[in-house]
Amino acid sequence: MKAELESICRLVRDCGMSIKDIDRGHLHVDAKSSRTDLVTQYDKEVQERLRKGLLEIMPDAHFVGEEGTTQTFAPAGKFFIVDPIDGTTNFVKDYHFSCISVALVIDNAAELGVIYNPYADEMFWAQRGHGAFCNGKRLHVSNEPLENGIVVFGTAPYHEELSEKTFQLAYGYFKKALDIRRSGSAALDLCTIAAGRAELFFELFLSPWDFAAGALMVTEAGGLVTDCDGRPLAYDRPCSVLARNRLSDPITARPASI
Ligand code: IPD
Ligand code: CA
Ligand code: CA
Repeated sequence: MKAELESICRLVRDCGMSIKDIDRGHLHVDAKSSRTDLVTQYDKEVQERLRKGLLEIMPDAHFVGEEGTTQTFAPAGKFFIVDPIDGTTNFVKDYHFSCISVALVIDNAAELGVIYNPYADEMFWAQRGHGAFCNGKRLHVSNEPLENGIVVFGTAPYHEELSEKTFQLAYGYFKKALDIRRSGSAALDLCTIAAGRAELFFELFLSPWDFAAGALMVTEAGGLVTDCDGRPLAYDRPCSVLARNRLSDPITARPASI
C-alpha cells in the first residue's frame, strides 16, 4: 500500500496546487441543491483529474465523487470516496481554507485517507493501523478536557432545518469550552481534531465525501468518531458527525438534545 499511498499523495498535492493560483476573473459559480450550495468549474475539473488519476493507480477500484458520479457505494469492493474541493464557499470567496479529500474504503472499512490544504501546504494522510501524519509528523489528538478545549462545528449550511439545533448546540459548547470555531471545511476540521489543535468537532449533516478521509485521520490519531447518536459512520449515506479526543466526556460531548 505504501507505493499507492505515495502516488495518491502526489496526485492530491498536484490537484491542490492547481486550485491555489487560479484565474479569478474566469471563475464560474453555479448553485446546486440550494442558493448556498455552490460549485465551480474547478470542482468538476479537479474531480475528473482525480477520477482518472486514482483509477490509474488502482484500476480495480470504483470512484464516488461529490460532483456527480456514475457509481454508488457498496459494502463490498474498493471505493475511492472523493471531495474534489472541500470548502467550496471558501474557495469562491478566496478565503484560503479549502482542501482536496480522498479516502480509499475497502470492504466497508476506510483504509487510506489523504487531505491536502494547499494554502498552508499541509499534507495529511492516514493508513488504517499505521497512524495519521501531517507533512511527515505523527498526529495525536489532544489530552485536554473540553473545559480547556476548542469546539469546531459545521453549520450544515445546505440544510436550513438544522440551523436552530446546530446553533443551540454550539451555544452549549461555547459555554462549556474555551471557545468555538467555524472554518468552512469539514475535512480540515477533522484534521484539526486529529492534529490536537481542537478538542471536539460536530456537524448535523455531512456526506461521506466530507468525512471519509478525515474520520480515519481522527481515529488513527487516537480519537473517536461516531454520528451524534454514538453510532458508527456509514459510507453509503449522509449522517451527523461527532469527532473528539478521549477526554471530552462522552455524555456531555454527545449532543443529547438532538
Ligand atoms: C461543505 C464544507 C462545510 C460543511 C458543509 C459541507 P463543500 O463541503 O465541508 O464546512 O459545513 O456541510 O457540505 O460543499 O464545501 O464541499
Ligand atoms: Ca464537502
Ligand atoms: Ca466539495
